Parts: sequence; structure tokens; C-alpha cells
Amino acid sequence: MRSKVTVVGAGNVGATTAQRVHEFGYADVVLVDVVEDLPQGKALDMLESGPVIGSDASIIGSNGYEASANSDVVVITAGIARRPGMSRDDLLLTNMKITTAVTQEVVKHSPSCIIIAVTNPLDAMVQNVYESSGFPRNRVFGMAGVLDTARFRTFIAQELDVSVEDVQAYVLGGHGDDMVPLVRYTTVGGIPISELLDEDQVQKLVIRARQGGGEIVALLKQGSAYYAPSASIVQMVEAVLLDKKRILPACAYLEGEYGINGLCVGVPVKLGANGVEKIIEIKLTADEQTALEGSAASVKELIDVMRKAKAEGA
Ligand code: APR
Repeated sequence: MRSKVTVVGAGNVGATTAQRVHEFGYADVVLVDVVEDLPQGKALDMLESGPVIGSDASIIGSNGYEASANSDVVVITAGIARRPGMSRDDLLLTNMKITTAVTQEVVKHSPSCIIIAVTNPLDAMVQNVYESSGFPRNRVFGMAGVLDTARFRTFIAQELDVSVEDVQAYVLGGHGDDMVPLVRYTTVGGIPISELLDEDQVQKLVIRARQGGGEIVALLKQGSAYYAPSASIVQMVEAVLLDKKRILPACAYLEGEYGINGLCVGVPVKLGANGVEKIIEIKLTADEQTALEGSAASVKELIDVMRKAKAEGA
């Protein structure tokens, strides 16, 4: 029997994720969205690509969660994008309500699943999903670091004119602006990046990777990135379904690791069939530790806004 993956949110990120999983063929897919007929239409379109691409996996769309029952992995991309005139906190609280409601349904229908949260603001939404789920921390994590790292790797490969496959990099901390690249651990074919590029060149690439999401938004004019985000999500889905024990950056709930307690922050983890099987702790320099703590402090600010709103009945 095939595994089952549910993707909640049939927008750009969700639909592209569903498409990639369906194309791999190793899991049946359920695509859920609140918009009537949208997930059904997209799923049927993808299903009809099966004979051409050689995938026998099933893919169906739904406005409810019955069809998603007993999923192995659930990816949450549901949310709204920031609209003109909307404050950061308005977006935070709107997406908090959406992800809380989605998580309740997911937990009810797939009590043993592993949840990958993707909705922005990422770290705060992962924390909200984790707390709303009541799941152990290994079964809830977020996708951001794989994408930030992929952007950094792309720019390094371009700069050096080498294969992207030979570039290894790690980022810690929050998504985007808050990311903390571990330049010391960035290698090209095993060679430290410091041997190949000078510090200024590396810093330029770091800045471009940090602002990578904004660069795409500015080009698209409408909406945000989804090809690289969905590829990054699918790498994590695969690590779980195929029990690959990949070492990847993920947003995970920390209980004292890196001196951070009770917050979801991006760190390197081992991802396998049990989700986050291990949080990998590496020694940080003082600057890296300060940057990571800065990232954690930004997450904490958002968590405080969410807690206050919940206490007031949001
Ligand atoms: N349940 C299910 N789906 C929902 C709900 C809900 N309660 N609320 C909204 N959605 C759906 C919307 O109908 C829409 O189809 O979520 C989808 C979001 O899709 P897009 O607006 O296209 O956004 P997308 O680009 O896919 O990004 C989704 O991922 O990377 C992050 O910042 C991004 O938070 C955003 C999320």
C-alpha cells in the first residue's frame, strides 16, 4: 500500500507540492482547500497527467478532511498573503486562526501523522501548529531552512560556476531576513568556501539568499515563490516517507538545545520516519550564537502577540 500525504492549501505552494509528490508516485495525495471546487479541479488535472508521466498514485481534492484520514504526512500551506494596508500582526493573527483550525481537523482525522508547517510567518506558525496539535515535538516541524539553504547554494554554484550538487551549506535561525548561515560549514566538494571565495563575496551571497524571497516577490508582482519552496517541502516529505535520516535544517521546537527553551527555531535535524529524530547541536561561535538568539527573540515576540490575542479570545 502506498503512503498517504495530505496537502492543506491548494494555492501556489500547496498545489505545486501536491504535483511533485504525485509525480514521484510513492504516495497517494489529498489536496484540501476552503475554496469550493478548487482542490478538486487541480487534483483532477494532476491525476490526468498520470498516464503521461507514469504515476499510478491517486490524487484527489476536497473541501473537507474525511478523505485525508490516516495520512502519514500532512503539509500545511493554508493561509493568506499580506495585503496592502494589513499590518504584520494582522497577518500573524489571521494565519494563526487558519492554522489552528486546520491543525484541529488534521489531528482529528490523522492522529498519528507527521505535520510539516509552511505558512508564514513560518516560525510562529510552526509553534502555533505544534501547540494546537498536542503532538510530541518530533511530529511537528517547519520548512524554511531547506529553502534558504537552496537559495544560498544556488548563488554559490553560480558564482563559482560549479554543480549545485557539490555545494553543501547550513543555515540556522528564522526564515529569510533572520537566517544565520553557517559559513564555516559551507563547502564545495568538501572544500571550505573560505578557500574559494573571499569574505566580501560570501557576504554578498549571504545577503542575496536572505532576501531571496523578496527578490522573487518583486519580480512576480503578485504572489510569492513556490517552485523552490515546494521542492524543499518535498525533500522533507521524502526524508520521512522513505526514512532517509537526512540531516537538514528544519524549524523545530527546542527544549534547551542551543540554550533556547520552548520556542520553534531553525536548527539542523535528523529527519526520518519518526519526523525529527534528533536535533543536531553543533558548537557555535559567539557571533553565530548571538544571531541565533536574535532570531529566537523575534519568534518570541510573535508568540507573545499570539498568546495575548488567544487570552483575549481570538
Ligand atoms: N483551510 C484550507 N485552505 C485555506 C484556508 C483554510 N482555513 N484558508 C486559506 N486557505 C487556502 C487559500 O484558499 C489558498 O488557496 O490557502 C491557499 C494559499 O494559497 P496562496 O494564496 O496561493 O499562497 P501560497 O503562495 O501557496 O503560499 C502559502 O506558504 O510560503 C508560504 O508565505 C506563504 O503563507 C504562505 C503559504
